[in-house]
Amino acid sequence: MAKDTWAIRLRQPDLAQQITPGQFFMLRPADGSDPLLGRPFALYDTYTDEDGRLTGVEFGFVVVGKLTSLMTRWKVGDTVEVWGPLGNGFPVPSAKHLICVAGGIGQTPFMAVAAESLGLKHYGSPYRQLPELPDSVTLCYGVRSQEYLSGLDDFALPGLHINVATDDGSYGHHGFVTELVQQQLDGDEQDIEVYCCGPEPMMKAVAEVCSGASVKCWMSLETPMACGFGACFSCVTKVKEDDGTWDYRRTCVEGPVFEAERLVL
Ligand SMILES: Cc1cc2nc3c(=O)[nH]c(=O)nc-3n(C[C@H](O)[C@H](O)[C@H](O)COP(=O)(O)OP(=O)(O)OC[C@H]3O[C@@H](n4cnc5c(N)ncnc54)[C@H](O)[C@@H]3O)c2cc1C
Ligand code: FES
Repeated sequence: MAKDTWAIRLRQPDLAQQITPGQFFMLRPADGSDPLLGRPFALYDTYTDEDGRLTGVEFGFVVVGKLTSLMTRWKVGDTVEVWGPLGNGFPVPSAKHLICVAGGIGQTPFMAVAAESLGLKHYGSPYRQLPELPDSVTLCYGVRSQEYLSGLDDFALPGLHINVATDDGSYGHHGFVTELVQQQLDGDEQDIEVYCCGPEPMMKAVAEVCSGASVKCWMSLETPMACGFGACFSCVTKVKEDDGTWDYRRTCVEGPVFEAERLVL
């Protein structure tokens, strides 16, 4: 897809039928014990066969360690172990303007979010219904430099507004993606909602921008996970309670998507 960035399609019709935008699945090699634990990956999109039947899921990943390095050597026809769909995913959009904010490989959940909220695709079984589509959908996408931009051709969806920022100015706005978000919020009187996924410092900055503009923001966390289904508590994050205290919540079952104002970042 881009520098150090790959995409894989997994043939798994059941998963493709059930999964919704922002949900994820766990993946590990079918053979051997290295790595022993699965790793989480977000749905990029579902795909169909030539007869239009939902056939599997596609995901994008950046090579960072053991499994992602191994995955670059997987070949067509290999068998892998996968379990999902997991997590809550993004809620159905409820504002007139949905702004998706992605940092780096945090763009992956927004392909399905955008396709669904533009009314181009349905997800889930039965299909989850959107009572009303947003009037506009924008993707603000920030990466270090142009060579890390992935999926721009896929994101060329009818009706999707795309704003790109690069840290080094090699493509789009020269600066951070938060500056694009601020511009969007400054110039828009509409009812706005923000969905965000990316590195933690970037998400923290987006949360601050949204809080300053009293805009609701949902964040998808990329907390490392061991089981993915609530059994090991390796994925906990601090979440504020109604009474002002906080408690740990498992990102894999109660997340990975949380309201930004609830998170103790
Ligand atoms: C819900 C969810 C969805 C995700 N979706 C995607 C996706 O669509 N595409 C994608 O590329 N990645 C995604 N990730 C992150 C992905 O799971 C990790 O990159 C992956 O586990 C790394 O596995 P590895 O075996 O290659 O690295 P490891 O060998 O496990 O680790 C290598 C290095 O990366 C660090 N690391 C591992 N996981 C993370 C993490 N989550 N955040 C920061 N550093 C980490 C380790 O501390 C270590 O330094 C997602 C994570 C979550 C929780
Ligand atoms: S990853 Fe095991 S409880 Fe969340």
